[in-house]
Amino acid sequence: MLDSGRNLQATIRCANEGDISSVMEVNMRTLPENYWYGFYKYVLERWGDLFLVAEIKGSIVGYIMNRVEDTRDPVLYGRRNELVKYERRGKLGIIVKSIKSTFLESHKVGHVISIAVLLEYRKKGIGSSLLDEAIRQMKANYGVDAVYLEVRVSNYDAISLYEKFGFRKARVIRSYYRDGEDAYVMVKDDLG
Ligand SMILES: CC(C)(COP(=O)(O)OP(=O)(O)OC[C@H]1O[C@@H](n2cnc3c(N)ncnc32)[C@H](O)[C@@H]1OP(=O)(O)O)[C@@H](O)C(=O)NCCC(=O)NCCS
Repeated sequence: MLDSGRNLQATIRCANEGDISSVMEVNMRTLPENYWYGFYKYVLERWGDLFLVAEIKGSIVGYIMNRVEDTRDPVLYGRRNELVKYERRGKLGIIVKSIKSTFLESHKVGHVISIAVLLEYRKKGIGSSLLDEAIRQMKANYGVDAVYLEVRVSNYDAISLYEKFGFRKARVIRSYYRDGEDAYVMVKDDLG
């Protein structure tokens, strides 16, 4: 259990099955991307140490849900940034490195599936505490090389939170969301 930084009343802890309905409630109230009960249960059973909730006086006010993946996609482990046109090693170097990465190396990466804090509890450091603890657990328990996530291009609050944590925009996925909005893939490969 942890106390979140600026709001000492919020406790950050691992979720359990009894929390799923409250997490679903927070999700429904804060995000258009909603999941079915079985998905939360699956994530909890598989990566319970990375499924965290923020609790204040017995109520769940926020959560973060993550998973760990193996990938050969150099963007997802921070080797390549599709939004940086010309890196120092030049275009050919990037292509060669990408091909090499694709065929030879598989990297373990953390994936933030969803994070949310109820509106009335925002800007108190709770989102930061959830993300901070999740990244710490991903690194300590799975040895991930990087952490990535998708975020709506218009979600300035979340983008600002991620940038504060050292995530960088690395790719745009056109029409990623059901309503047609694009997503940024943001990646943090400096895990300290
Ligand atoms: C994104 C979210 C989880 C942040 O939670 P939070 O508890 O408010 O975050 P914090 O208080 O820890 O804020 C951390 C940083 O995020 C950024 N941030 C958060 N809210 C912001 C806002 N309204 N405007 C500008 N920056 C904001 C700031 O950089 C802030 O740092 P600062 O307080 O030092 O300026 C919250 O806004 C949320 O639940 N949004 C709706 C769900 C969502 O969009 N989830 C992300 C999907 S990808």
